[in-house]
Amino acid sequence: MSKRGFFGHPGGLSTLFFTEMWERFSYYGMRAILILYMVAPLTEGGMGLPVSDAGAIQGTYSALVYLMTMVGGWFADKLLGLRRSVFWGGVLIMCGHISLAVRGAGTFYLGLLLVVLGTGLLKGNISAMVGQLYDRDDTRRDAGYSVYYMGVNLGGFLGPLVCGWFAQQPAFKALLGSWGFSPESAWHFGFGAAAVGMFLGLVQYSLARGRFPDEADRPLGIANQAEHRVAWRQFLIAVGAAAGAVLVTAGLHAGGAVTVSPVGFAGFVDVVLVAVTIGVFVWFFAAGQWTPEERTRLIVIVVLFLGATVFWAGFEQAASTLNLFADRNTANTIFGIPYPASWLQSVNSAFIIILAPVVGLVWLWLGRRNPSSPAKFAFGLLFLAAGYGLMIAASLLAGESGRVSPMWLIGCYFFQTIGELCLSPVGMSAMSTLAPARMQGLMMGVWFLAISIGNKVAGRVGGMYESLPLPSLFTANTAFVLVFAVGLALLVAPIRRLMARAS
Ligand code: PHE
Repeated sequence: MSKRGFFGHPGGLSTLFFTEMWERFSYYGMRAILILYMVAPLTEGGMGLPVSDAGAIQGTYSALVYLMTMVGGWFADKLLGLRRSVFWGGVLIMCGHISLAVRGAGTFYLGLLLVVLGTGLLKGNISAMVGQLYDRDDTRRDAGYSVYYMGVNLGGFLGPLVCGWFAQQPAFKALLGSWGFSPESAWHFGFGAAAVGMFLGLVQYSLARGRFPDEADRPLGIANQAEHRVAWRQFLIAVGAAAGAVLVTAGLHAGGAVTVSPVGFAGFVDVVLVAVTIGVFVWFFAAGQWTPEERTRLIVIVVLFLGATVFWAGFEQAASTLNLFADRNTANTIFGIPYPASWLQSVNSAFIIILAPVVGLVWLWLGRRNPSSPAKFAFGLLFLAAGYGLMIAASLLAGESGRVSPMWLIGCYFFQTIGELCLSPVGMSAMSTLAPARMQGLMMGVWFLAISIGNKVAGRVGGMYESLPLPSLFTANTAFVLVFAVGLALLVAPIRRLMARAS
């Protein structure tokens, strides 16, 4: 391992910082233009989809991205180890964005699929690699994760600026025209920029191979060669089954027995997510011989799970509802100069970079009065609701098709970012503190399930942009989140008592 440091941290941290920065650059850069591309009319180079379809597709795509992190974790544990899984994940992501850069429905859906698979391999495993850089009792570990989180948000900040500029800025379209390209193809240059970002991340990652401990190269979840073979066999059977299912469905579709469509698939994924959630929680309650106290704690986990799901369902509408509001109802000029609507997708990351240290200081300053994690959940929801509250006013001001100052969205993202800083960093650990020891491993999956369902719902709600008056849409969001915030706030004291007993 290299001894050269990075802000007093192991050198490998700088590699992972920049790899994840470029990965998030590509993810959030592409996400910033995704729904706008889907709903843009064909004459403007878009897909001309109805908003409800675009929302359904966006939600399905991002839900599967986070659902796949569980499969990606299994893959690294049993088959390839962390370092290689992250590498191949990055390769798939890059290929996905290249596919999106080529116009066509086929390349579009193939691109989304590749980004889903690639992010599943990369996102969870790269954060596990951060942990591996430190010995068990190294006190720098938490600080290491904070530095890494800055990389995440630096990427989330730059991606929308770059990809959004290529996809939407009139100046670039004019440039395309003067080069003999059609200006409507600008979207695909935006997607291409995401691919270039992931490529740079991969180059930088490959050059730094020696910076990681040996464990990063071993699948740690298997004991010997025989187990490794069994795992590979299981994997190949699963891939074969998936390929078979795709072929059979394609055959039935071709024969006219069923009609397969992206929106139909979105409905199928709705059902899958509901079934998985019910399955997981039924299993929770039915499987073990829980003591009465453990049973009570499981109920609390269900409550926190619901809180987290509601939070992400509101928060992730940044990419759907709020992105559409930026595009259609916001006056996007700064000092009279127009900028792309997708640039507002950078605001959340910018606020994280600015506010994360501030919020950290507030918790320190509060010392013993530092709120418990369920209280932070309730605050997270409250701030999210406050953000949507602002949007009720903004949408009333905008009327049917008017445009309001970008300060409304910036204000909304300000509150939502504070909400994110309350809930996101403590979320998973709050749930695993309550969980009995034998189900710790599962809690990571449950946390990602909440994010996944949240993304799904966020897409669906964004799909209502045209069918509901905007003030009603934002009021519904505010009220829904507020109900959960208040409900959770009432449960803070009893949950705290339970958690105190748990630790
Ligand atoms: N924005 C952060 C990231 O992309 C945290 C986050 C993860 C938020 C997953 C929502 C869902 O890593």
